[in-house]
Formats: sequence, structure tokens, C-alpha cells
Amino acid sequence: MSSSSLSYLENMARHYAIQAVMKDKEGNFGEAVKYYKGAINVLSKIIQLYPDNALNTLYKEWIVQYRRRIRDLENLRVSIIPANGGRTVNDDSEIEEMILKERPNVTFKDIADLKEAKDAIRQSIIYPTMRPDLFPLGWPRGILLFGPPGCGKTLLAAAVANEINGYFIHADAASIMSKWLGDAEKKVAKLFKKAREISSNGKPVIIFIDEVDSILGTYSNEVGGEVRVRNQFLQEMDGLLNKSQKHFIYVIAATNKPWKLDQAFIRRFQKRIYVPLPDKTARIELLRLYTKKIKLAPDVDLEKLADLLEGYTGSDIRDIIMAAHLRTVSEIFDKYGGKGDVRPVTLDDFKYALKGRKPSVNRELIKVYESWYSKFKAL
Ligand SMILES: Nc1ncnc2c1ncn2[C@@H]1O[C@H](COP(=O)(O)OP(=O)(O)O)[C@@H](O)[C@H]1O
Ligand SMILES: [Mg+2]
Repeated sequence: MSSSSLSYLENMARHYAIQAVMKDKEGNFGEAVKYYKGAINVLSKIIQLYPDNALNTLYKEWIVQYRRRIRDLENLRVSIIPANGGRTVNDDSEIEEMILKERPNVTFKDIADLKEAKDAIRQSIIYPTMRPDLFPLGWPRGILLFGPPGCGKTLLAAAVANEINGYFIHADAASIMSKWLGDAEKKVAKLFKKAREISSNGKPVIIFIDEVDSILGTYSNEVGGEVRVRNQFLQEMDGLLNKSQKHFIYVIAATNKPWKLDQAFIRRFQKRIYVPLPDKTARIELLRLYTKKIKLAPDVDLEKLADLLEGYTGSDIRDIIMAAHLRTVSEIFDKYGGKGDVRPVTLDDFKYALKGRKPSVNRELIKVYESWYSKFKAL
């Protein structure tokens, strides 16, 4: 597999970001800065190499957030740390920056299948904002998207930002957690305060917390910070649930590791949506979606190809298509000196792209998701 494939880069960016937050929390600022910079480099590369990528708008926002954190950390290193350790280095402008300025370049139409998830989002977010009078009993304020990595959770949340005429606040681990105890929970409070403020003009506000387990998960080596963030979060969620229905504030959280969340937290999310591995119909849709712009040879039967792709995630499938296409492009350069047009992509190109490439999620893990779901369905 080409080492510059999109999911490879996405995983690398995620790895750097997680390392950065961990080092940041440990107080190892030098290392944290190095990892934040690594994440920025990889994200910039994705945006440059894959200008059509649906999540680029989010990636740009992350870059802004990581740059800000680097700046704060670099200022911090030359300043004297107050004795109580409770120095707040951020102000409201940080929350301001989490509000997505640009609409993501993705709509429900760009997401293959996931009908159940889309319907749930329509019923609990889109319809109530259009006709609140039809919902005298209220509507869910918390939606939890869970499932294996690479199957469309972040994509769904980004599409919501596009489907509603409102605000989308994107918060991730790096922007909420910080080394300063007391700081992270204040940030959560500010986040919700800001959401209430901007929703007072009647427009919906979505707070999206991606990889929520890394912020709120239960840790065995808890030092106290995470508990406070979690409690603040639960309190804010209760505020949303109790408050009059005038506000249109929703919290969408996404996680690949739902079992890391505790019951109290899960209960605040009345709507829990499983975003599963694509089934055959979904795989065909994914194939259609991602081959739209490329020429296919007559021997490529998408239905049969979908059978070969059983067990692969949406992100795997996108990558395999890109790799198959890349093979035809490389030929132009290797054989024809960069001149001429690419030939259609054949079944053999797909098989070549698939060779040695295992599904990124295994069966056992899928069973874990399913049993978690059946356990918490009725909670
Ligand atoms: N159902 C889908 N429809 C279209 N593209 C998908 C789908 N699922 C995954 N992808 C592709 O895989 C990428 C990663 O998906 P993402 O939403 O980040 O997964 P998750 O958040 O569940 O880990 C997306 O940017 C998209 O290119
Ligand atoms: Mg994601």
C-alpha cells in the first residue's frame, strides 16, 4: 500500500494529536509541541494532496487549534507558573475559534448508506429546528455516534453542520484538555455558555465532540482532571435537558470506544446511533460514490467487487479505489513520460490494490460493538 494513502495519513495525524495531548497533560511541553507540529504537517499534507477530501474543513480547524496550543505552550515556557497551578492561558477567543466558519464540503448525499443514522439525525435535529411546534414533548439533545473507526461518524457530524442553518462548534481532545487542572472544566463551561449565547437568536447550535472517550473516558490512573471535566460536562448536559425548549443546542459525541464511557454519561445521550461496517448495499454505494469521477473498464462489476470488499470499512474502500486509480496514473508517468490520458481502471487494478491489504477492523471487535449496543440500547 502506498505510504501516502489518505487513511494512512489520517491515522498518522490522529496518532500525533493523541501523543501531543498526552505529553501536554504530562507537562512535557517540549514534546507536546513537537507532536502538535507533526499533526499540523500531516494535516496540511492531506489538504494539499487531497483537495476534495470531505473532512478538510475540519482539518483546517484542527490546524488552527493546534497552532494556538503551540503558541500558548511556547508563551508558557517563558512565563512564571503561578503557585496554584491554576493559570488560565486561554480566553473566550479560543471558544470562538472552535466555531466552524466555513461549511464542510459534505452533505448527507455524500455519505453512502447509513440510513438509520441519517433518519435519526433528521428526526432529532433537523425536523425539530424546522417545526418545533410539532414536538410538544421535546426532542433529544444528546446524540452518541459509536462504531468501528473509518465508517462515517465524523463525516455524519460534518454533514449535519451543512444540513442545518446554524452554528457548528467542533471540540476535540486537544482543544478541551490541557495540563492545567481547573482549566479544562472551565473550558467546557465556556463552551456551553457560548452555545447558549449564540443560540439565543433562535438558530441551532451543534456542539460536536469527536473521540469523546479520550476526554471523558474512565481511566484507571485518574489524577482528578478528567473526573472534573466529566462532571462539568454532565452538569451542562443536564442544563440542556432541563431548560425550556427555546434553545436549539445539541451535543453530538462520537467514539470508537464506547465501552470507555460510563453509564451516567451514556444516559445523557438519549439517542445512541450505531455506525456499523458497511453491508453489501452500503459497499456498492461507497463504490459508486468514489468511482464517480473515474473511468471504469467493462470488466468492473461493482456488485461483484462489493463481495470482495466484505469486512472493509468505508475508509478502507475509499483508499482501495484511490490506490487502484493511482496505478493507472502512475503508468502515464512510468511508461509514457507523463503524456496522454489514463486508461480505464480494471478489475485487475482493484485486485492489485486489495492484495495484502487486510480489513482495518476485525470480526471480534465488531462483536464487541454489537454486544455493547445490545447492553445499552434500553438504558
Ligand atoms: N458511509 C460513508 N460514505 C462515504 N464515505 C465514507 C463513509 N464511511 C467512511 N467514509 C470515508 O472514510 C473517511 C473516514 O471516515 P470518518 O467519518 O472519519 O470515520 P469515523 O469518524 O467513523 O472514524 C471519510 O472521510 C470518508 O472519506
Ligand atoms: Mg472520526
